[in-house]
Amino acid sequence: MSVTQPVYAAFRAIGAYVPQKILSNADLEKMVDTSDEWITKRTGIKERHIAADNEFTSDMGAKAAALAIKRSGLEKEEIDLVVCATVTPDYFNMPSTACIISDKLGIKNVQAFDISAACSGFVYGLSVAKAFVESGMRKNVLVIGAEKFSSIVDYTDRSTCILFGDGAGAAVISATKNKEEGFVDIHASADGAYADFLVTPAPGSRNPVSQKVLDEGLQYVQMKGNETFKLAVKTLTKDVKEILEKNNIRSEEIPHFIPHQANYRIIKAVGDALKMREDQVALTVHKYGNTSAASIPMAINDLWESGKLKKGELMLLDTFGGGLTWASALLPFSGESV
Ligand code: ACO
Repeated sequence: MSVTQPVYAAFRAIGAYVPQKILSNADLEKMVDTSDEWITKRTGIKERHIAADNEFTSDMGAKAAALAIKRSGLEKEEIDLVVCATVTPDYFNMPSTACIISDKLGIKNVQAFDISAACSGFVYGLSVAKAFVESGMRKNVLVIGAEKFSSIVDYTDRSTCILFGDGAGAAVISATKNKEEGFVDIHASADGAYADFLVTPAPGSRNPVSQKVLDEGLQYVQMKGNETFKLAVKTLTKDVKEILEKNNIRSEEIPHFIPHQANYRIIKAVGDALKMREDQVALTVHKYGNTSAASIPMAINDLWESGKLKKGELMLLDTFGGGLTWASALLPFSGESV
């Protein structure tokens, strides 16, 4: 009788892409009634990157993914599932951005689909990859978080246009027999009762494209900023406490706490509530703004490229976004160090 050895999902490699054009607070001062001082004080954001007119979510996702595959040491033919987390897909209905990215990368005949969970999308994607890998259905999953958020931002609305940026990040999640390399735990959840906190009313089956949609600007993101802020701090803190307690890990043992990068004040409040030291907390919000599903993989990539994220070190991911959705994950980085 043969005994099947358990298989674990390992985070093998990371890649990211940041578009060239920078939109600074000084630029925004010329567009809406705001100031560098207000934006810096209330959000910690100094600048964000904006994709070119002819640069789409799939272009950014494909560039990040190509880098992650190269760094994983795998051939593209070995990727057997492509998942793209985005709320700013190339097309709102079909085809999925994951299909377009697969084509751009020359990855043929594999399952490919998108995940819609706003800022939580990348960690949701990791949970999907873990399930596929650990069930034995797939061996090497590409998880991408890519957003052209500038395509749904109203640049006359000062309450939202200062927050968001564009970019992409991607990871390769591979099967391993070595438990030490595998994800420790992952938790993802949602509560649709708060759906109106963050919403893009059109286009969709409720509001198909019409003159009314355009006249009222319903194609742009709307946010109840203050309510979202308070719920974000509460939920993110609770979520991390739960995953740490469940796994018997103290917050001071975490070398890399990588929270969703929406607002420095949220990150600081959560970090303080969890008694995290500054050197434990990844911070990119000042230079990228909120890039939604791309925010966490872009932050992981920054850590890795700067040589701060080493093989075997534990990462604690924590995110929150439209839906409402939230997710946390505890996992070692199991790729090679820089
Ligand atoms: N410049 C100057 N003044 C501004 C600006 C601006 N850009 N934006 C708003 N204000 C004003 C408001 O009009 C208001 O003025 P009033 O008091 O005269 O009415 C005042 O500043 C305070 O506004 P608030 O909305 O209460 O400001 P707050 O401190 O809450 O900051 C912010 C706003 C930055 C949006 C904050 O609420 C926030 O970060 N929210 C959470 C965002 C988030 O985490 N989203 C989740 C993820 S996103 C996703 O999933 C896609």
